[in-house]
Amino acid sequence: MDVTPGQYGVCVITDTGSQARSPARPPARKRALALESSQTAKTVGPAGILPMTPSPNQVDAALMSRRSIRAFLPTPVARADIEAILEAASRAPSGTNTQPWKVYVVTGKSLVRLSQALVAAYNDPQRDALYQEEYRYYPHQWVSPYIDRRRKIGWDLYGLLGIEKGDKARMHEQHAQNYRFFGAPVGLFFTIERVMERGSWLDYGMFLQAIMTAARGRGLDTCPQAAFTPFHRVIAEHLGLPAEEQLVCGMSLGFADESALVNTLRTHREPVEQFTRFLD
Ligand SMILES: Cc1cc2nc3c(=O)[nH]c(=O)nc-3n(C[C@H](O)[C@H](O)[C@H](O)COP(=O)(O)O)c2cc1C
Repeated sequence: MDVTPGQYGVCVITDTGSQARSPARPPARKRALALESSQTAKTVGPAGILPMTPSPNQVDAALMSRRSIRAFLPTPVARADIEAILEAASRAPSGTNTQPWKVYVVTGKSLVRLSQALVAAYNDPQRDALYQEEYRYYPHQWVSPYIDRRRKIGWDLYGLLGIEKGDKARMHEQHAQNYRFFGAPVGLFFTIERVMERGSWLDYGMFLQAIMTAARGRGLDTCPQAAFTPFHRVIAEHLGLPAEEQLVCGMSLGFADESALVNTLRTHREPVEQFTRFLD
């Protein structure tokens, strides 16, 4: 395994040369949005800031075409594209420019080994006793409307896949796909130093969204994953995380398998007037 510290707090962990080289462009590339990485490179100024104003269409297309993908093609992602995505995302704002993010990029045999360890941990009958998340993502006590939305996405997903209520074996197997990175060739892990406070977690969300948006600009898709958090010790061991770093979440990155049923899932959003008040 080769761990290369890089710029922007990025470590690339890989075990094969195949991931690091530019692959032949896959068909999904044709669907890439207009803002190609090559154009970006030409137009980015010294501070990494684009001197032009992108059109609302381009920005909205990147934002609105993002969705959580749960089946990827094995097509490798060029290391140059991963770096370009992270470079673009590093323009995300953060309080007093603290840039609290640290990224671990896992590909090749390292990804396979980590995936095997995660699946084994997830299948461990002692799982709930042994593996617990370090921070609570969700509330102790669920209330409406959040619990309703949470249930809806769960049942929509399982319903689409023909998994009936009570079919715990198939639910378990579907959830296990998280630990196989849904077949993606790239796993991203995000950590934060424990000394950082809640504000930096806010910054982190912006960074993560920027990654997912920049990925769209290159015809790539993502799935952000909190499912990794109970297994932070397994991940820390494989990534060689220092004790002062805490796992925030992970993310699968790759080219969507557009033929996969699971990727036909479309999620609902409340209309703007439902969550917004204009005060004149
Ligand atoms: C921080 C975060 C963690 C998530 N964790 C998971 C996860 O572990 N597994 C998964 O399948 N989806 C996960 N999701 C995806 C959400 O289910 C998804 O964003 C939501 O249902 C809306 O759907 P969309 O992303 O397709 O628009 C996560 C999303 C976020 C923002």
